[in-house]
Amino acid sequence: MTSNFRYITTPIYYASGTAHAGHFYATLLADILGTHYKHREFKTLTLTGMDEHGEKIAEKAASENKTPQVLVDELAVQWKNAFSAFQLHSDIFIRTTSAEHVANVQEILNACFKNGDIYFGEHEGNYCVACEAFLTAKEQDEHGNCLIHKRKTELRREGNYYFRTSKYIPEIIAQLKQGNIIPNSRFANEAIAIAEALEGDLSISRPKTRTQWGIELPFDSKHVAYVWFDALPNYVTGIGGVEAARASPLWKNAVHVIGKDILKFHAIYWPAMLLSLKLPLPTLLVTGWLHSSGHKMSKSLGNVIGLSDLQSGALAEYGRDAFTNTVFRLINPGDDLDITIPLLLERFNADLANGIGNLLSRTLGLIEKNFQNTIPSFSPLLDTSRENELCAVMESLAQRVENSFDQFKLADALAAIWDLISKTDKYIAETKPWELAKNQTPEGKAQLGNILAQSVAVLRIVALVSASFFPEKMDTLLSSLGEAPASNGNAFVRARNIRNINAGHVFSEIPKLFQRIDIKAELASRQSSEPKVDTISENKNSTPKTNSDKTTVTSKTIAIDDFTKVEIHIGTVMQAELVDGSDKLLRLQISLGDLGQRQVFSGIRQWVKPEDIAGRKVLVVTNLAPRKMKFGMSEGMVLSTDTQDGQVSPVYAPEGLKEGSRLS
Ligand code: MSP
Repeated sequence: MTSNFRYITTPIYYASGTAHAGHFYATLLADILGTHYKHREFKTLTLTGMDEHGEKIAEKAASENKTPQVLVDELAVQWKNAFSAFQLHSDIFIRTTSAEHVANVQEILNACFKNGDIYFGEHEGNYCVACEAFLTAKEQDEHGNCLIHKRKTELRREGNYYFRTSKYIPEIIAQLKQGNIIPNSRFANEAIAIAEALEGDLSISRPKTRTQWGIELPFDSKHVAYVWFDALPNYVTGIGGVEAARASPLWKNAVHVIGKDILKFHAIYWPAMLLSLKLPLPTLLVTGWLHSSGHKMSKSLGNVIGLSDLQSGALAEYGRDAFTNTVFRLINPGDDLDITIPLLLERFNADLANGIGNLLSRTLGLIEKNFQNTIPSFSPLLDTSRENELCAVMESLAQRVENSFDQFKLADALAAIWDLISKTDKYIAETKPWELAKNQTPEGKAQLGNILAQSVAVLRIVALVSASFFPEKMDTLLSSLGEAPASNGNAFVRARNIRNINAGHVFSEIPKLFQRIDIKAELASRQSSEPKVDTISENKNSTPKTNSDKTTVTSKTIAIDDFTKVEIHIGTVMQAELVDGSDKLLRLQISLGDLGQRQVFSGIRQWVKPEDIAGRKVLVVTNLAPRKMKFGMSEGMVLSTDTQDGQVSPVYAPEGLKEGSRLS
């Protein structure tokens, strides 16, 4: 990609559930890339949005007694709000139920139908509603359960329309082999393997007898488009439709940020559709997983890190910056990372508070004391080899950051930036400006001014090239140095002018950029705000619930949003057994319908015999973070309460209730 245009998109998110750290990651990546290219004066457009059609969404709406449209309207507002709360802004927020998108998909369907790439055929096979797809033999276990969703597939026979993916496979493989489409060779090879193993064509319609919640085929009103044939064209809708895309230099420089789970759709089906439409192929920037507690973050595992975790306590002000600094500093896109709140806090202190925050407050502190808040000017005559060495690193910074971004290696960009910060720390440690401050001779003062000017110059270029990562704080930093914000244009040209500081500018105060977080206190306060009821604790004094817990719970009212955070499902206890080595715990295997089977340790052994609970329906909190116990993982909590005779009993659900259904 050599031109000065960039069209950067995220996957569009399923209109179900709430946005979590995994979704923020992809959206943040697109946001940072978009802002970076805007700072380089590229013509840039960013897109995110919602994937709102399909059987799954219709099912969810029905379970909530809503029409699908009402459900997706509500969710679109929630997702938009979550993104703006995390300071994520996209030029386009697309929704697949919008009139312009519906028209675009129908135009694409018509074009592919007319050129013979869509035909009618019949298919029988095992269908997974969660995947919204017929599964191949390799995608299911020996009982016909979907390997991804661990749910039963259904045998279906359907007359559907097919898209001739097979016709385009050789061209796609050739392009992938030439390094086009996917620059990361690991994912390119994976896509080649998928393409080579692909059998047959893609079914791109669903009969309305099965679902009505989709875009009607313009050439057969008895069918709606398959969700992926509906979702993928969103990228073209965003740019104004097929004809607009054909003419647009933005489309020729499209970058789709996607998770590795949706590689097949973006690396095979989407290029096939684009080849059929004779549109240029995009570049795919494939991300790995953000894990939490060792697993991919997922609602059903209950290990999700959400907006409230990332924006509470000390992270209320620093959530986005701490998250960005961790996930983009530690890995380049493509790798997996296990994230935890302590990790975010530790990196925040090390890189942001002690690194750039400290450099700013030390520099401005010395200027305040010695130059009455006035940025000193350079005296190049006083430069020594130390200054020259630092200047050499400064000279190359803008280019290094640009190169890293052009290869999508954001961690390399941050490494280059922090390399300069640590070299500057070393420079200050060696030149000891605080010693010179004691020496009030004119030479001493000039030397001190030079060192501080040098440090200001470093801060200025660091802020200019890292403003896409930390937009607000870097603008605050620039403003304290009397500089225009990075978004004012030509940030990278300005950053190449390394000593062009605003000497003579008088600052009014030293901004508290990134204040060090007391991690111990922060973690303790987070813990104390978590619910204390804990049936799986091995603490000697713990019981499934305590009276004091009851008072905490009842004395404080909560908003409905707080309540809906807790997911409680009906589960059937398939197996119950005593746990060797514990006088409190029962080990339960609980079947939760679509959520699959879970192991839960429950501290009810002294009141409940395994044979009393086996086979019964119970209430299970399913979105608690999984806990590693010495006997194994516990993935949920069985709700219990007091009995009239002072014992404790699980709350059994009536037999007639449906396994897996959620309490609301
Ligand atoms: N609707 C489809 C995408 C259609 S694009 C034409 C979809 N939606 S999704 O909501 O299930 O997921 C969207 C994306 O969220 C994933 O592909 C991935 O990029 C991101 N992530 C969700 N969980 C994630 C992690 N735990 N870690 C990193 N990214 C993950 O798929």
